[in-house]
Amino acid sequence: MIDLHCHILHSVDDGAKSLKESIKMAKKAVKSGITHILCTPHHNHRFDNPKDKVIKLVKNLQQELDKCKVPLRLLEGQEVKIHRFLMNEIENNKILFADVTNKYLILEFPTTEAPAYIETLLIEMIEKKIIPVIVHPERYIWAYHNHDLFLRFLNMGCLAQLTAPSLVGNYGSKIKKQACKLIQNNLVHMVASDAHGVKTRNFYLKEAFNIIEKKYGQEKVDYFKNVARAVINGDVLSS
Ligand SMILES: [Fe+2]
Repeated sequence: MIDLHCHILHSVDDGAKSLKESIKMAKKAVKSGITHILCTPHHNHRFDNPKDKVIKLVKNLQQELDKCKVPLRLLEGQEVKIHRFLMNEIENNKILFADVTNKYLILEFPTTEAPAYIETLLIEMIEKKIIPVIVHPERYIWAYHNHDLFLRFLNMGCLAQLTAPSLVGNYGSKIKKQACKLIQNNLVHMVASDAHGVKTRNFYLKEAFNIIEKKYGQEKVDYFKNVARAVINGDVLSS
């Protein structure tokens, strides 16, 4: 399995707190069947994790995992918080995409509302052949109340990434229900863990895929897994 969203790099955000915890997370991931993790530290007003810093940290952690013989491949990424001047950061080479061809961008939105500049920015990105991946749409209040806006973002060409623990029920029944609704209506394109540690906010990817298989069938599981592969390879998705 490929995990497209994980805070396994330590001491850079609210994810793993030490090298020991990163290694514990890696071992847990492998045990649950994860082979590749896209490392996505927060890059926002609170945590500054530009491209060059993340590349170094991923290389270091990969070396530590190799030393401990943990069979897990780490890839460089960021969870980029959307903001008005994001295109400048992209042009200044501070931003890491999910793939080396700079196609898929893992994007976090504000929780409560989506300010008007966002739509303009998404249009600009899509015109520049960037595919924004909206993370955890099931947790955004604006996407729940302004469903048309969320649909508009998807129709423009954005993709959406569901968080596995939401589907398992870790964020409560309302978010679980919303997660199911999004899958049912084909409004999410991939599932990822957004794991932050070993105790709380763990992977739950295997558990989520078990639920998806039971409720929506193996075809849906295969679809999500194929999209994850396409995203890290920078492949074009067939519609
Ligand atoms: Fe995250």
